[in-house]
Amino acid sequence: MKPRQLTAKILTGFLKFKAKRPTPLFASYNVTGRCNMRCVFCEWWKTDTPELPTKKAMAAIDAVCNLSVPFFDLSGGEPLLRRDLTTLAKRAASHGCLVSMNTNGALLNESRVSEVADVFDLVVVSLDGPKRVHDKIRGVEGTYDKAVEAIKLLKSRRVRVGVNSVVTPWNITILPQFIEELRSQVDFVQVQPIHPYPPPAENTPSEKAVSQLLDYLLRLKRSNPGFLAVPTDFIKGFEAFFRGEAPKICHAGELYVAIDPSGKLLACPARSDIVLADAVSGSVGDVLKEKRDSEGWRKVSSCRGCWLECTVGVSMVLENPLKEASQLISLWTSRKD
Ligand SMILES: C[S@@+](CC[C@H](N)C(=O)[O-])C[C@H]1O[C@@H](n2cnc3c(N)ncnc32)[C@H](O)[C@@H]1O
Repeated sequence: MKPRQLTAKILTGFLKFKAKRPTPLFASYNVTGRCNMRCVFCEWWKTDTPELPTKKAMAAIDAVCNLSVPFFDLSGGEPLLRRDLTTLAKRAASHGCLVSMNTNGALLNESRVSEVADVFDLVVVSLDGPKRVHDKIRGVEGTYDKAVEAIKLLKSRRVRVGVNSVVTPWNITILPQFIEELRSQVDFVQVQPIHPYPPPAENTPSEKAVSQLLDYLLRLKRSNPGFLAVPTDFIKGFEAFFRGEAPKICHAGELYVAIDPSGKLLACPARSDIVLADAVSGSVGDVLKEKRDSEGWRKVSSCRGCWLECTVGVSMVLENPLKEASQLISLWTSRKD
């Protein structure tokens, strides 16, 4: 039932995009702002955003899933800090979505892995390098070991597992070797450059380091396209991103939306300040269709853009479906059983 429903949603979404009546294909719900890490590049743990209780969180999920979204991601903050996480994931799954999670993995132990494996189609664990590098970036010692343990537990329950690595000046030279080592451990890897955009000087690696990483990633993409789960053009764009010259490729509020911990509907997962509506009480579908002259939509227009897999990556797949979409979609949709 689910694969057929999912394929229908993807096809309908694609046709609507082509007919210039886009509906979101990807939604991300940051279920909590709380986090157990202190990552150097992340703002979430520094802010105190209230979160919705279970019933209202389910109403927000219903409102967005009713738009026929095929891919629904639960993130945060750290999503596993919510005890009702799998209840929320089941709600999204009941709409026929493919349900994924982004996690640092630290809270995924023996007692929790079964409930996670039962509902999540895909889990992406954050790993930015080997132990010394990763723990330093995450700000908490022991994080690397816990993330690796989480990956093993998930794999033992036959969940599809990927790794997301953020490309920074602190890990760029060791990423190729690190990614090589991951090949035997996970199903796929994603890479994305450190944000914000345009990057401040302290976030900018040397041009030589960027060029060497790109050489490696493009070779990997050619030899094992399914393992590096981002479009080729997305990788090629890293050089322009770090020079502050990336083109704006944006379908915020069209191909992707997000829900923040307090239930606000955001135009995209990249900007927590671009609010379009209240996902719990507002009419989400109308807000997206009408594209009113609101502050939120004005902010979408004036945004300088970003280079994230969940925004630009999705746009690239949809704009150029023959090139890589089938590969990426089959990666996302091929279930463990
Ligand atoms: C915000 S985290 C939330 C989920 C979970 N706590 C985790 O660490 O995976 C989602 C992803 O965004 C990445 N991320 C956080 N801050 C970032 C930044 N400034 N630039 C690029 N990626 C970032 C994280 O490394 C992680 O892979």
